[in-house]
This record gives sequence, structure tokens and C-alpha cells, in this order.
Amino acid sequence: MKYPALWKMLMVAVCVALVGCLQAQELQGHVSIILLGATGDLAKKYLWQGLFQLYVDEVGKDHSFSFHGAALTAPKQGQELMAKALESLSCPKDMEPSHCMELKDQFLRLSQYRQLKTVEDYETLAKDIEAQVKEEGLRETGRIFYFSVPPFAYVDIARNINSSCRPGPGSWLRVVFEKPFGHDHLSAQQLATELGSFFQEEEMYRVDHYLGKQAVAQILPFRDQNRKALDSLWNRHHVERVEVIMKETVDAEGRISFYEEYGVIRDILQNHLTEILTLVAMELPHDVSSSAAVLQHKLQAFRALRGLHRGSAVLGQYQAYSAQARRELQRPESFHSLTPTFAGVLVHIDNLRWEGVPFILMSGKALDERVGYVRILFKNRAFCVHREGHWAPEQSQCLPRQIIFHIGHGELGHPAILVSRNLFRPSVPAHGWMELQERPGLQVFGRPLSDFYAYSPVKERDAYSILLSHIFHCRKESFITTENLLASWVFWTPLLDSLAHEVPRLYPGGAETGHLLDLEFNGGHLTFSQQQPEQLVPGPGSAPKPSDFRVLGTRYRESPLISAWPEELISKLASDIEATAVQAVRRFGKFHLALSGGSSPIALFQQLAMGHYSFPWAHTHLWLVDERCVPLSDPDSNFQGLQSHLLQHIRVPYYNIHPMPVHLHQRLCAEEDQGAQTYAGEISALVANSSFDLVLLGMGTDGHTASLFPQSPTGLDGEQLVVLTQSPSRPYQRMSLSLPLINRAKKVAVLVMGRTKREITMLVSRVGHEPKKWPISGVLPSSGQLVWYMDYEAFLG
Ligand code: BG6
Repeated sequence: MKYPALWKMLMVAVCVALVGCLQAQELQGHVSIILLGATGDLAKKYLWQGLFQLYVDEVGKDHSFSFHGAALTAPKQGQELMAKALESLSCPKDMEPSHCMELKDQFLRLSQYRQLKTVEDYETLAKDIEAQVKEEGLRETGRIFYFSVPPFAYVDIARNINSSCRPGPGSWLRVVFEKPFGHDHLSAQQLATELGSFFQEEEMYRVDHYLGKQAVAQILPFRDQNRKALDSLWNRHHVERVEVIMKETVDAEGRISFYEEYGVIRDILQNHLTEILTLVAMELPHDVSSSAAVLQHKLQAFRALRGLHRGSAVLGQYQAYSAQARRELQRPESFHSLTPTFAGVLVHIDNLRWEGVPFILMSGKALDERVGYVRILFKNRAFCVHREGHWAPEQSQCLPRQIIFHIGHGELGHPAILVSRNLFRPSVPAHGWMELQERPGLQVFGRPLSDFYAYSPVKERDAYSILLSHIFHCRKESFITTENLLASWVFWTPLLDSLAHEVPRLYPGGAETGHLLDLEFNGGHLTFSQQQPEQLVPGPGSAPKPSDFRVLGTRYRESPLISAWPEELISKLASDIEATAVQAVRRFGKFHLALSGGSSPIALFQQLAMGHYSFPWAHTHLWLVDERCVPLSDPDSNFQGLQSHLLQHIRVPYYNIHPMPVHLHQRLCAEEDQGAQTYAGEISALVANSSFDLVLLGMGTDGHTASLFPQSPTGLDGEQLVVLTQSPSRPYQRMSLSLPLINRAKKVAVLVMGRTKREITMLVSRVGHEPKKWPISGVLPSSGQLVWYMDYEAFLG
């Protein structure tokens, strides 16, 4: 041998490599996937197919697999049912059929049914996995438990997995949940807390399958890749509105027991559409692939959503629904469901990017077509003189400008991203997406397809197969974290509560629905465009409408009284205030208005903000009648109410706004800070004769007005214009205009609304001038006018 040393070295190297390979083989990773609810609908329709796709994609790489289909059903019957579910597995289109058959055989061999009912069943499962791993000389990489079961079963299963089925050290556990994740904020929180006691946040994957839809998954990458073009466009200056839409032709038959409890808002809007909304609205993180950054930006977007109110939504129900519910739930003939199967909701986002841009969320069952999309429609400020026939899609600024993430179905029939050619040529991922071929005659969103740069995925993939792959690869950005989930429920729960007894508009379903569900919005309100031809369900909606009544004029405590249904009363008061303002500005150049806080004036503020465009705000000074001794940013602060319902929607010069100085030197209403005196000084300096043009007051159930309370003498008489007072309820400390100052006003309007005011209204109608007992009875402008505005509930009971 010529080079014995070299030989020796070579042999050693070969041996080391061999041992390494053997070890690697010995230590090949093994993943067990346990599908709970393996014989259910979702498993049959999507999950088995998704698992097969995962196997096809991953087999021969780093891991071996076993698939455990599990359910409560006894082994023999369960086995049969599972075999049926597996029969229909289909091969990926681009795969050689013989190769696919081979993989399918392997997959079926690796998929076993087992009954999982008791703790012992879970213990046995754990032992079986350990034994298999050991026997086959594998290393356990991890276990995935997919909960495709009703949520009431979650906690028991979670407990069993946690106590008996966690993999050993060094391997991971992933648990996957399907919605519904609660019914409202409280129940979602309870469920999250319970699950959180069994699993770490990083172990949990809450599925929203819309995040696996290819067009939805492209929203952030698209925004990222087109930052340059979008930076200047993606905001209130350029976006006219955003539509997030999911229309279905199917109805709820066969699922009524679920649907009756949830309805369309919980089923679709609270999750799928809200997720899409946040992807469009959020500030773009620097790194869109960082799930932590995406989550933080999403939460920030949630915080900016303006609270919804009853007028933000319209509801519908397809006509056959109640009969289906009676059949499936075995209810009597008299049963009428109020569950909405259609909803449109108008969302506003209070931040500088989106202020004033309407986001319309809409979904429904039994509609005329199946389609899902999010459409960003841009404003158009151009006017083209040249004839329309000569407008070129690339150049003409007169054609509509829109970006559409087309989720699926509809005229196009598949996912797509469409960008109007007169916007910019977008970049889309080089892999996986391709430019769409021309389809002559096809119109999308009112324009021929050729008007758009249009792209679609090279290979259409089902959302579940994408999400299963993300779970396997630990890509958490496509899942709903606990914080994300709760933020969404915080947003939706108040609306759901306020709509609980709303009678939905009935619609025939399908094409026959015609324009019955068409929507329009005005300010913060969304309404149906058409009047309902007739009310088909008797219910709370059969009460008389405000427009059935005329404003009633009469007298109360010897002053004029205006009485009407709330909506009409508020309209009347708002118009009267505007008329007073116009008159004052015409005569004196200014209008000094002092406003109350509390709940009654909220509707008035909204009405003034949304319905009075010629109000002379630029010449109006806004004062507070009273204030609670809390920071001005506190939700309890009267100023805060004024700010959120009025000030932020109008243009008043900031130096015309006069909040009460309750928070000076970082303390609240300290006598030494002389806040009351400062306010009085400001009034004397700016308001001629300290005589406001209009003071708006309310009346408490104890007869208080402003923050002048019974049995508390401060502010009822004397020289002081502004006083510190004590309230019997929290927050106890208050600042208030005094009765003498109020009575110097040119006009005082007292707004009284709601049934709870009935008794005090009666009482005060009979008493004389007794401000110590009922401060409101001391309101009598010395030379001005007093007008009472009462709704029928307060006045007539
Ligand atoms: C589910 C809802 O989340 O989404 C169903 O519970 C709805 O009511 C379904 O039909 C729609 O999903 P897809 O993928 O068919 O658009």
C-alpha cells in the first residue's frame, strides 16, 4: 500500500459518514396527526383531502407520518365511516396518476381510525404513538391535534390531551381549533381562558379558513411589494370606499341548530370579513412575514375601529328560514326566528389614514350569486373632455380606478388580483401567480377584464390544504391569536347586543330578491335603499314609526313644550339650534352654545354632526354646562362625549372650544386651582354680558340639571358663575354653570328623553319654584326663552 495513512483517514471518514447516515435514518422525525371529528362534515369535505395534500407535499422529505382519525363512535362503525370519508380523496391535477395512486395507498395505510372518548383512550393513544416511534427507530417530532368537533367538546378534549397525550421533551404539540370561538366577548374570553389553562399560546392554532384563501393571503404581500405605488394612494385622500363582500347561494338548511344560535354576523362578519378588513386597513409592518409584527398592527387597527351602533347595520332573513328552523328544531307553527341570514354593516376607522372612508361589510345566504371579494374603489377627480369611446384604459383618469382581491367564484370563477390599468402596473409574486388571459365579453365590476392588470394563481389550492401546511411548518401568521380574537369580539359584541331583538327584513332568496337588499349609507348610518313593501313577521317592528306622528306643540311649566318620537324630536331640536346659530351669527358674528353631557344629547350631537352641513361652526363657541372631575380623555368626561360624537366630525376652530378646566396641575377639581373661577373669567371675557345664546340642559330623575343637585345649595343662587358641586353618584365631584348664569341665557332648551324620566316629568310639572328640592325648577331665564323638548316616553309614559 502506497499511502497507508491516507487510506486510514479515508476509511475513518467513510465510517463516520455511514454512522451519521445510520443515525440520521434512526433519528428520522415522526409526526402524528390526530383528526378529532374524523367522520364529520368538515373532515369529509376538506380536512382529509388537506391531510392527503400535506402528505403528498412532505413525504420523502424529513418526516414520516401517521394519521389518526378519531371520534366518539365505536371502532367498527367509526372505521366504516372514516373509510367512506377517505374514498373520495382526489389526486392533485399536476400529478402523474400512477404515482398518486401509490401515495394514496400509502396514505390510507397510515390512516387509522380510533375511538377517543375516555382519558384511558387518550393514554392508549399516547402509548401507541410512543411504541410505534420506538419500534420504527424514529424520533418523535411532534403531534398535531385538529379539533373538528363542536366547541362544547373543546375543554374536555383539551384536558385529556394536556394530561395524557403531550409528546415527550424535545417534540412539539400543536392544537388546531375551528370556529365558533365563543358567542360574544364574554364567552370567547371564558373559552380562551379555559384553553389557555391547558395550552401555551404558541401551541394553539385557531383557524379562520379565509386566511388560507389565496387572494386573501396575498393582501399583505401585495401591499408590501407595491409599497411605492400604494404609499400615496392607500388613504382617505384617495380611497372612496372599501367593500368586503361574501355572497352565498346556499341557505342554512341542515345546519339550522348551529345557525339559529349564531346567525350571519357571528358566522361570517365577526371572523372572515373582519380579518380581511384588518389586512386592508392596518398600517403595513416593515416585515410583513413577521407574525408578531402583523399581529401588533392588526390590534392597532382594531383599536381604531369606531364603535358600531344599531344604525350601522341592516339585517335580512330569507323567507324560507323560519319554516326550516321549525322543521329542524321541531318548533311549533307559531315560531318565527329573528336570526339574520343577511347583514350589511358600515364600519368607520378613526385614524388619520381612514377617517371618513366607509368600509362596507356584507354577507348573506340564499342570495343571487356566490362570490367573495374585497374591492378598494378610488376617488376620481378627473373630467375627460374627449369622447368616452376614445378613453384608453391605461391612461384615462375618467375610468373607474379600483383594486380587487377576488377571493373566488362569481363571473371570474377563481381567485384573482385585479388592478385598474389607469392606476399602476403592480408587481405580484414571480412564483405561483400568472397574468390572466383575455376573456372577451367578460365584465367584472362594470368593466371589461381588459381594463385591469389581472393575475390569478398558477395552481388553485384549497384554503384548508394551505392552512394545514402552515400548521405543519409552524407559520402562525395565518391564524387567530387570543388577542386578535378578543379584539374582534370587543368590536362586534355591542352591535350584536343591540340587534338581539331586531326584526330582519324578509327576502325571497335567489334572483327573486331583486333590489330588496340594496344598501345605501349616509354619515354613520346604513339603510336599505328600498322601503320594505310589507312587514311579513309580526314583532317589535310593528310599533308605530316616528314619521307616523307629528311634532306636538303645547306647554309645560308655562313654557313652550315640543313633544315627539325621539328621532323626530332630535331633528326638531337640531334644526332649532341651527336656526338660532344662524341668527346669532348674522346679528353678532358669533354664536355661544353651552352643551350638557350625559346620554340624551348623544343623538343630538350625531344629528348635528351628520345632518347639518350649513351650521356656522366656524363662528360657534362651544362651552360645557357641566363636567365630571375626571381627565378630559376619560370616557366618563362630558367633553369626551362631545368630542367623540360631535367635535371630531365638524370643523370648529380649536380656540372656539372651551372645555371646563377640571384637570389642572395634574389634579382634579382642587379648590386651590381656581378652575371654576378661571372658567367664569373666560365666559365673562368672551360672552357678552355672560349671556349664552343657547344653553342646552337635561333633567335627571332626581330633578337635577347641569351638575346642580337637590339638597346641595352650591350654585343655586349668588354671584358665582361657575361652581364646584357634589353629585350623589360617581364621579362625585363636578363643575357646573350656576343657576344664575344659566338664567342669563337668551335661550334655554331642556331635553328630556326616555321612560325613566316619566315620574320626574310628572312631578316637576306640578311643583313651583323650588330649586333646592328640584334644581330644574329654578331654570327660568330672566329675559330669555325656555323651551322643553320631551319625547313621548318621557312626557306620556
Ligand atoms: C364558513 C361558514 O365559515 O364559511 C359557512 O360557517 C360558509 O356558513 C362558509 O358557508 C363559506 O366558506 P367558503 O370557503 O365556501 O367560501
